[in-house]
Amino acid sequence: MRIAMIGTGYVGLVSGACFSEFGTNVVCVDKDETKINKLHENIMPIFEPGLDKLVENNVSGGRLEFTTDLKEAVQSADAVFIAVGTPTRRGDGHADLSYVYGAAKEIAEAMDGYTVVVTKSTVPVGTGDEVERIIRETRPDADFDVVSNPEFLREGSAIEDFMRPDRVVIGTESERAQEVMRQLYRPLFLIETPILFTQRRTSELIKYAANTFLAAKITFINEIADLCEEVGADVQAVSKGIGLDGRIGKKFLHAGPGYGGSCFPKDTLALVKTAQQYGRPLKIIETVVDVNEQRKKQMAEKVIKACGGSVDGKKIAVLGVAFKPNTDDMRDSPSLDIIPALQEAGASVAAFDPEAMGEAKEMLSGVDWKENSYDTMDNADALVLITEWNEFRMLDLDRVKGLLNAPVMVDLRNVYNRQEMKDAGFDYTCIGRPKLED
Ligand code: UDX
Repeated sequence: MRIAMIGTGYVGLVSGACFSEFGTNVVCVDKDETKINKLHENIMPIFEPGLDKLVENNVSGGRLEFTTDLKEAVQSADAVFIAVGTPTRRGDGHADLSYVYGAAKEIAEAMDGYTVVVTKSTVPVGTGDEVERIIRETRPDADFDVVSNPEFLREGSAIEDFMRPDRVVIGTESERAQEVMRQLYRPLFLIETPILFTQRRTSELIKYAANTFLAAKITFINEIADLCEEVGADVQAVSKGIGLDGRIGKKFLHAGPGYGGSCFPKDTLALVKTAQQYGRPLKIIETVVDVNEQRKKQMAEKVIKACGGSVDGKKIAVLGVAFKPNTDDMRDSPSLDIIPALQEAGASVAAFDPEAMGEAKEMLSGVDWKENSYDTMDNADALVLITEWNEFRMLDLDRVKGLLNAPVMVDLRNVYNRQEMKDAGFDYTCIGRPKLED
């Protein structure tokens, strides 16, 4: 088996490396020559735990290659995966499919013999039909099938998610294509991963339905957290209490500053647009999008309140700016709303993130970037924890208190224990857990 992976972004690179680990010969293709040159030197374009080792091992094992030559990669491939970006289209919120369609045309021009063309990128329902039409139009003689095979991996645990998925979804009615896909995922049979074969349109929708459901689940618990603060209840206990009900499940019930990242914000919006286009609006998801947008802004208000109603002229220390730990990804991170709002309210901001500062510097201006957690909080009037990196979970509280001008901490990820913070002398604010009375 030989596959070509078009696009070496998050999904393409991780999927390519993991398929090669399964024993398949993989050629990863990208138009960006600098990226490919760096990959030849084993320099990863993203930070993802374990990825560099996985790539290195498979390149030296002769199963994984990188190239800018799409034609050659596609000619010899049994299956070609489209894993290019589908960003939000400026102006209307729909997914921008120009990269997908561009790739489809190039693949069509290059393919030789029966080829399975697989969309791995998250694409709106009906994209597979259009990819098929483009290929047919470009190469009327071509022997091919177009399959949908969405990816469910999470940044920070992408390799594990690929190697041990909850399920694999494959959308095609062609038995010939099903057989090729079955061969590619054969190693997962050993760990009894459910492989769901379905229609292509259904498969495309499964990906959006999964992501929007999870976004709704997070948004639900975030709103419950706000209510907890008002009524004097503890959202962590509420999450546990409802999550133990097997019908609800305990995952994705962690209240926080609002979801961000490369998928949820983009995919919720795209599904809302698709539904509106078909005249079947998804009112729940429309509300989820609105509530989450508002929430990220409200988090700055929370900080201001914790600082006694004003941050004007104050110095705020921020720990963590990535949208979640174990990634350098800043896309739609809550920090992109919170930090500018604090600056606008007159605060100066010092910040530290273990991996995301390179990217963050391009997106946030006027921030004093520091080398480590403790330098960040030196002489600050409040400490705000935005991303729950492990190294922020066990701060030396006495040292923190000694460095801060005032022992004010706003923990937007509920990492710390309220009683311990109170005993340590902090004025501690968190999410959905009311302040402990004196
Ligand atoms: C997500 C999906 O989980 C994955 O299946 C899909 O393929 C891509 O999108 P990812 O964006 O990498 O993955 O991260 P995830 O761990 O799902 O977190 C997304 C956002 O939700 C983060 O901002 C995170 O902080 C937030 N989140 C997650 C919560 O606020 N609470 C939770 O309980 C879980």
